[in-house]
Amino acid sequence: MIRTIKIAMKFAVAVGVFVSMSAMTGQAQVTGVQTKAAAVAHAAATLTISTGKPTAKVSPTLYGLMTEEINYSYEGGLYGELVQDRTFLNMRDTVNWIPVEQGTARGAVARDTTTGPSAALPASLKITVEQADAKDAYGLRNGGWWGVPVRGNSTYTGSVWAKGDAAATNGAAVRVSLIADDSGKVLASDQLPALTTEWKQYNYTMKTGAIAKVTAANQILLSVQRPGTVWVQQLSVFPPTYKNRVNGNRMDLMELMAGMHPAFLRFPGGNYLEGQTIADRFDWKKTIGPLVDRPGHASPWRYHSTDGMGLLEFLNWCEDLKIQPVLAVYAGYSLGGDHAAPGPDLEPYVQDALDEIEYVTGDATTKWGAERARDGHPKAFPLTYVEIGNEDFFDKSQSYDGRYTQFYKAIKAKYPALQLISSSNARGNVVKSVTPDVIDDHYYKRADEFFADVHHYDNAPRNGPKIFVGEWATREGMPTTNFGAALGDAAWMTGMERNSDLIQIASYAPLLVNVNPNGMQWQSNLIGYDALRSYGSPSYYAQAMFAGHIGTEIVAAELQGAGDRMFYSVTKDAAKGIVYLKLVNASSAAQELKITLDGAKTVKPTAKLVRLSAGSTAATNTINDPKRVVPVESTVTGVAMTFTRTVPGYSIEVLEIGVK
Ligand code: AHR
Repeated sequence: MIRTIKIAMKFAVAVGVFVSMSAMTGQAQVTGVQTKAAAVAHAAATLTISTGKPTAKVSPTLYGLMTEEINYSYEGGLYGELVQDRTFLNMRDTVNWIPVEQGTARGAVARDTTTGPSAALPASLKITVEQADAKDAYGLRNGGWWGVPVRGNSTYTGSVWAKGDAAATNGAAVRVSLIADDSGKVLASDQLPALTTEWKQYNYTMKTGAIAKVTAANQILLSVQRPGTVWVQQLSVFPPTYKNRVNGNRMDLMELMAGMHPAFLRFPGGNYLEGQTIADRFDWKKTIGPLVDRPGHASPWRYHSTDGMGLLEFLNWCEDLKIQPVLAVYAGYSLGGDHAAPGPDLEPYVQDALDEIEYVTGDATTKWGAERARDGHPKAFPLTYVEIGNEDFFDKSQSYDGRYTQFYKAIKAKYPALQLISSSNARGNVVKSVTPDVIDDHYYKRADEFFADVHHYDNAPRNGPKIFVGEWATREGMPTTNFGAALGDAAWMTGMERNSDLIQIASYAPLLVNVNPNGMQWQSNLIGYDALRSYGSPSYYAQAMFAGHIGTEIVAAELQGAGDRMFYSVTKDAAKGIVYLKLVNASSAAQELKITLDGAKTVKPTAKLVRLSAGSTAATNTINDPKRVVPVESTVTGVAMTFTRTVPGYSIEVLEIGVK
């Protein structure tokens, strides 16, 4: 409970952050629902686009992804593991592991803190079987993360660490199966060989046949078929994963992310980087190597992380989406307020960051590059941006200037080409001793606040640090945002595009939410899912449209006479001969625009149009109705040097105009 309040308080005082929310849940206030049914059209306006006069380059890395362990983003989300509590943390209750006595089988189960397969996992589950045979086995079942999705004709793989006493090792004793809840039918199963009396890892493969109705109403069953004592630890089951990665990610969520056309992934947080205490930070060295050597840790969002999604898994995620990492390194400050003072106290954390960068970028002749190679990835990863900490403007000790500077000097000495991001520019935590390469600004607002702030960066100085809008979102709608939020997002994105000479990178947050009861800690998110299904919010589609249609240069344009809820951005790809015109009509009334393409020699008479629109700002997508608000593609005719276009109320449009 205390943690919750601290997180909410931290959020509430963030610079530029909308503070009208419930302290306990971070719930944004929902503005009045508006509809466009009876709206009267605005007077005609003019939009003059200086197609021949690009003003600056568009950052090729403008749109990316931000991620952290929140809302069951990895555990019960993107990370493919189907077993909940695979390391038996919760044997206090029977929520995740429930004994199953088939027929005459009898036994008992308890958590044994005296034996485990590794120093990281020193405890295990002791299963004492009095009576069991191949037909009537004693076992334990796990209901997964709000269910276990089982699909037909698929291969499920996994492993378990196990050992047995003399009786249990006297022949094959353990089986792992997938069982349908309703029928009790075995959907797939595999038998382990005879255990030994020493800890050993056993792999299994379970293949399903045809399944008439795919559901998540299934269980994972570990059964013991002979009397004796068996100890188990880290029981794991994975479905097929994206690009068949071992220990990999859920396919549908990776595909949704790929659909956003991202250029980078900021990880591992967010608050998750910092932890509530220094001990609970993302301690990257404990997240690499064999899973059995990862102890896991408490996440600040009130649940445990196995760290199955460790540093290398984040990097693989980048590789699979063909995007670059934006690596956030722990900077000696945690959410609860603990910090390491600049100087010798901070030195170990600086060294950790240097080692981490070497793990990411070093070749196999370096200590940490060799470690990465041993972990299965000999090739170094590309890296341009490193962020020092997260939201360090909350540091009441005001030590960030000193901490950032110490990190900056050490990292620049070894890696001069890296762009080092400051996570603060406010509240006495402004970095003054050195000039950060980039500053990370965060914005969580309502749509009307974003409408009012779209010119935020128009007159910002161009001779200082570049900008990373590392977290931003319009907070309307839950668990995923609604169309009103998408309008706020789209308006804000026009401002980011117009200033993308300054704003090098930008990422929405949070990205993922498990929509099951208690799955959500933050109430405005981009992509929702349960065990079986997933969907994008209207905000998701707005972003996919913007990132998927962007030029290489910013084009000057002037709008005159339009309503105050009309927003636009124009970029151009000269090589492709395309002008990308984005029009956001956040008013309920239609807006007629007389558009002039100044400086164009020829204009293609037809243009591709992608439009996202809805009848009201409350319209949204849900897990049961995922495609209510989706982009629609069509062709616009009559496009010319000067042409008229009426942008319907409540719509976000992208036009691809062929121009020479
Ligand atoms: O995105 C949710 C949280 O908001 C992040 O963890 C934190 O950086 C910010 O306060």
